[in-house]
Amino acid sequence: MKLWGGRFTKKTDELAFNFNASLSFDFKLFEEDITGSMAHVRMLSKTGILTEDEKDKIIEGLTSILDDIKKGNLLPNAESEDIHSFVEANLIERVGDVGKKLHTGRSRNDQVALDMKLYTRKELKETDELLHDLLKTLLKLIKENTDTIMPGFTHLQKAQPLTLSHHLSAYFEMFKRDRSRIQDNLKRMNLCPLGSGALAGTTYPLDREYTASLLEFDGPTLNSMDSVSDRDYLIEFLMDMSVIMMHLSRFCEEIIMWNTNEYRFVEIDDGYSTGSSIMPQKKNPDIAELIRGKTGRVYGHLFSLLTTMKGIPLAYNKDMQEDKEPVFDAVDTTKGCILLFNGMISTMKFNKENMRASSEGGFTNATDAADYLVNHGVPFRDAHGIIGQLVLTCIEKNVSLDKLPLDEYKKISPVFEEDIYEAISMETCVNKRNTIGAPGPDAMKKVIDIYEKYIEE
Ligand code: ARG
Repeated sequence: MKLWGGRFTKKTDELAFNFNASLSFDFKLFEEDITGSMAHVRMLSKTGILTEDEKDKIIEGLTSILDDIKKGNLLPNAESEDIHSFVEANLIERVGDVGKKLHTGRSRNDQVALDMKLYTRKELKETDELLHDLLKTLLKLIKENTDTIMPGFTHLQKAQPLTLSHHLSAYFEMFKRDRSRIQDNLKRMNLCPLGSGALAGTTYPLDREYTASLLEFDGPTLNSMDSVSDRDYLIEFLMDMSVIMMHLSRFCEEIIMWNTNEYRFVEIDDGYSTGSSIMPQKKNPDIAELIRGKTGRVYGHLFSLLTTMKGIPLAYNKDMQEDKEPVFDAVDTTKGCILLFNGMISTMKFNKENMRASSEGGFTNATDAADYLVNHGVPFRDAHGIIGQLVLTCIEKNVSLDKLPLDEYKKISPVFEEDIYEAISMETCVNKRNTIGAPGPDAMKKVIDIYEKYIEE
């Protein structure tokens, strides 16, 4: 059944019909569409626009459609243009003429806006839960590794020693922000567009507050033109997904490096690795690489919708139907990636000895050696120069700072004493850094306490 046609004298061209149709992808919205219709009908009966009896018949019809779709007994067909036409046609088939009253005071424009909001709200909540699970895994690893010393890098050059806990806590912060971004979006988008009609509201005495409350919105939207043509929340949604993917991708990049023969900081579990068809020795980090790779695809969806929206005059235009596939694919991709990433890091083995050994090379304690001089009254800039010279000596002799004999130290500065070795041990370097946010044990303990409360909230 077609929802329109009265003013047409010719049939739609078949290719044009298919080009215009969205049922193949918006069928996904069946539950949102039916839930929205039920609320609409309840409101129509509360305001006396429909009778109780009419409402009951329509609700009964909608319930049976929902059941049948869920059971797999009702599938998309080739005749309906979109999910809205599909449900309405089925309703009329099931309950007869009363079904034709469902669309009173409504347009597909406010209907699709509602469906997408209900969908986004559900998916944001699911994504948030997956992030929460991921943070639980991270917190467990953070707690287990407060004394796992590893090198920290800048410019991919070894910089200063820190702990694996501290490194993981950087990602904890990122995913925590992702969750708060989701909360912001949920709060901002949670206004109900239903009742906006095609663009200019309707002449019926609709109770928009009531529909909004039935659907658990904070209230109705305040401008009917904006209501039907606003896709900001979807752009924000794609931005939320893009930032999550960016964080996962950065982490994956590190894991891929850590998993190489050169680093050997971690070993990805067999369950999350793949082999080569030709090289028998290979165990590749494909899952991490794919997550990194899929990031581009999610960014693409964000740019696709931003570009679709940039030239659209008020109010609804069919261009907006192009919001669906990017949003659906972005969230499916992102949720899948979070889930797999969580599985990968919970089964990954951390090679603590290799991390520790790596932190000892590369002069990661050079800053602390300079601080030693500063603590003995040498101005920092001079101390920097002295340690630079010592590093050069070490490079010539192929030793690390802690293996360089005291007389070599003394040749460059008489300030050095036997306690220099204690001052530049990896443990001292880490343990002395205790301002909040630093890797030292006192600071990390405070942070872990905060994380534990956060996870329980
Ligand atoms: N399938 C359409 C979409 O996704 C539904 C709204 C159609 N409205 C219209 N006036 N053609 O945007």
